[in-house]
Amino acid sequence: MATLEDSDIQGFVLSSYAGKQPCANYLLLKITDAASCRRWLAPIAGSITTGKDRKIDFSLNIAFTASAFTALGFTADDLQSFSVPFQDGMCTPVRQQLLGDSGKSAPANWSWGNSGKQVDILLLLFAKDEEELARQSEILQTGVRTSGGLELIKLLSAGRDVNSKEHFGFLDGIGQPVIEGTGRETRQLGRTGHATVIKAGEFILGYENEMQTIDPLPATPKMPDFGRNGTYLVFRQLEQDVSRFWNYLQETTRDASGISLLADQEKLGAKIVGRWSSGAPLTLNPHADPAAPDGVDQHNNFSYAGKDPDGFGCPIGAHVRRTNPRDSLFDNPAVSLKTVNRHRIIRRGRSYGHKIADVHVDDKKERGLHFICLNSNIERQFEFIQQNWANNPAFGALNNETDPLIGQRNDGNVFSIQACPARARIHDLPEFVTTKGGAYFFMPGINALKQLAG
Ligand code: HEM
Repeated sequence: MATLEDSDIQGFVLSSYAGKQPCANYLLLKITDAASCRRWLAPIAGSITTGKDRKIDFSLNIAFTASAFTALGFTADDLQSFSVPFQDGMCTPVRQQLLGDSGKSAPANWSWGNSGKQVDILLLLFAKDEEELARQSEILQTGVRTSGGLELIKLLSAGRDVNSKEHFGFLDGIGQPVIEGTGRETRQLGRTGHATVIKAGEFILGYENEMQTIDPLPATPKMPDFGRNGTYLVFRQLEQDVSRFWNYLQETTRDASGISLLADQEKLGAKIVGRWSSGAPLTLNPHADPAAPDGVDQHNNFSYAGKDPDGFGCPIGAHVRRTNPRDSLFDNPAVSLKTVNRHRIIRRGRSYGHKIADVHVDDKKERGLHFICLNSNIERQFEFIQQNWANNPAFGALNNETDPLIGQRNDGNVFSIQACPARARIHDLPEFVTTKGGAYFFMPGINALKQLAG
C-alpha cells in the first residue's frame, strides 16, 4: 500500500471540512497580469491547507483551469501532458453533448465558466462560522483587488444544512469511497457501516490506481513532477427547482379522486433518488423510511445483485443506482464491482441558497448544489458517470430513460419503477436540475504550487 505524502497534498483532497467548517466561499478569479499574479500566488501558496494540517478556524485551497496555466506561461506542449477534458474545458461542443448541457443548461446561459465569463483560478475557503468566513473572505478579496494581476469574476457561497440534507430534502454525502492510505476505513465503517477502499491513484496523481497503473503526470520541462500529489477538480453549479420536483411528485401520485398523500410523494421521491429522505437505502427498506420522520440513516452496507437484482426496492434507473451501480452492472457481481470501482469519484459538493419554506410553493429564489468532485481521470470517472450512466437512455436495459435527477431530458422521458407483477412508468419527467456554470480545474500538490508561484 502506498504511503500518501499528505503534507504535499491539498487538504481538500483528504477532507471535505464539512464537520468543523460548514461555511464556504468559492472565489472565481481571472488573471489579468501574469507577473503580478505570481507575486500574489507566492504567499498564498504558503497558506494553503495541506492534508496534514488540522485547522480549526478556516481552511484554504486552490485550483487552476487550463487557461490559467497558459496565462502563467505553460506552452501548448506543456498543456498536452494534462488530461484532454481539462485541456478542452467544460464548454466545447463535444463536452457539452456528453455532459448533456443543452437547452436551459447550455453554456451560453451560464453565469460563469463560459467564454464570456472565463475563469482561471478557484479559491476554496471554508470556515467554522459566518463571521470567520466573512473575515477571511475579505482578506482574500483585498489581496485580489490589490494584486494588480487578478479580477474577481464571481463569489459563490455555500453552506450545509444542519442535517446535511440537499434541497430536494434527502440526506447527502453518504456513498463515498475511502482513499487507500488515509486510514479512514474505521471512521467510514463507523459512520456508514461500510467502507469501499479505492486505490489512491484514482484520486491523487502519482499513485497506483484501480487499473494497476499510474496515470501520467502533468509536467513541463522545468517542472517534471508538476502533477505529483495533484488531482482534477470538477465544479458544476447545479440549480435545483425544488417546487417543480415536489409538485411533479404531487401531480403524479394523485388518486382517482384527485388526492395526493404526502407519504406517496415521499415514496416516489425516494424511488427517484434510491434512498429515503433519511438516507436509508431503498434496497434494504423497500416499503418505508425506517428513520422517518426526521431521523438520519447513513446506512451504506448494501449491494444490488443479491438483494435487489430486479429493482423492486431501488429502481434500476434511480440516481444512486446509476451513479454507483455497485455489483449490478453485469451478471457477474465480482466483475461488476471491479469495473465500477474504476469509475468512482470523491464528492465534495455543498448546497447553496436558502432552504425553501414550502416545497410546493415556488418562491422564485435560486438554490442548488455546488457539485464538486475529485478524480485523477476526468474522462474515466466524472464524465463516464455523467455520460454512460446518468445520460444513457439504455442504462440497465431501460428504454428512453435518463437519471431522473441529473440526466439530460429527451422527448417523453420516462422513469420506470420495477415491481411485481407489473412495473409502473411515470412519464414526461421535467428537468429538476439546471447547469448554471462550471469548469474543470487542476488542484496541484503544495510543492508544484510553490514552483508555479516561483
Ligand atoms: C443537484 C444535483 C444532485 C443532487 C440533488 C444529488 C443528490 C444525491 C443524493 C441525495 C444522493 C444520496 C446520498 C449519498 O449516497 O451520498 C446522491 C448520491 C450520489 N450522487 Fe448525486 N446528486 C446530484 C448530482 C450528482 C452528480 C452531477 C453526480 C455525478 C455525475 C452525482 C453522483 C453521485 C454519486 C456517485 C452518489 C453516491 C452513490 C452511491 O455511492 O451509492 N450526483 N446524490
